[in-house]
Amino acid sequence: MLAVRLHDDGLKVEEIATPSPGPGEVLVRVHAAAITRDELEWPVDRLPAIPSYELSGVAVDSGDEVYALTPFDRDGVAAEYAVVPAAVLAPKPSRLSHVEAAALPMGGLTAWQALFVHGGLARGERVLITGASGGVGHIAVQLARQAGAMVVESGPVDLVFDTRGGDVPAGDRVVTVAEETPGAIYFIVEPDREQLLELTALVDARELGVEVDSVFPLTDAQAAFERVAARGKRGKVVLGVAND
Ligand SMILES: NC(=O)c1ccc[n+]([C@@H]2O[C@H](COP(=O)([O-])OP(=O)(O)OC[C@H]3O[C@@H](n4cnc5c(N)ncnc54)[C@H](OP(=O)(O)O)[C@@H]3O)[C@@H](O)[C@H]2O)c1
Repeated sequence: MLAVRLHDDGLKVEEIATPSPGPGEVLVRVHAAAITRDELEWPVDRLPAIPSYELSGVAVDSGDEVYALTPFDRDGVAAEYAVVPAAVLAPKPSRLSHVEAAALPMGGLTAWQALFVHGGLARGERVLITGASGGVGHIAVQLARQAGAMVVESGPVDLVFDTRGGDVPAGDRVVTVAEETPGAIYFIVEPDREQLLELTALVDARELGVEVDSVFPLTDAQAAFERVAARGKRGKVVLGVAND
């Protein structure tokens, strides 16, 4: 199969063996895989490594359309096929294309866990979200409003959710995913099927939308990673793997 792999000397698009699923795993024909700023810094202790940890595709055995955030401690999904633990797969939102569905899990689960699990956001609270047009931020703004919070740009705030890094605004509670910051809760998003089902329901009810900044073929992964590192994006950068 065709796969993108990160080596010591950069990204390469290569023919490699299609992986085989073990117990509790599913082989997925990848239709789209989204990428995240800074993610090439994550797997440096296990090169060569396939990047991208969110996909939408079709389970080879069942034919089901599925999507997921995949674990970070193993190969990602920027390839024609990926082996994914069954426990993290959820049915793809029927309203979304594969490209749109692949753009949701990382931003959706990160925003969900930041606001509700780590940030304890409650109805009526004021929340400030930095990087609000980015992959995580644009979902966080919608989820916060959906939960009855007020999304503000200044003034006193109950919760700050920082997706930008650098100087973090002050707030009663501060959660960040960009970098560890004194006084803020920093966490790493975890794949979670139940939360993905909640996001799917919001999408299918038209209460949550996903923005795709740009789509690149697998063979242009280098250009996709240049785009994801650039300023001024709106939403996610996606690798379109199968034609649909
Ligand atoms: N800890 C975790 O579990 C976790 C999970 C997901 C993501 N992340 C990290 O969280 C960060 C945000 O992810 P994302 O996917 O939302 O990224 P993104 O799509 O690149 O969004 C980042 C946003 O921040 C804004 N920004 C302002 N100053 C910036 C600067 N100096 N450099 C880069 N962007 C700046 C950008 O908007 P403008 O360019 O328009 O200003 C953009 O809207 C990334 O570092 C990512 O690696 C961590």
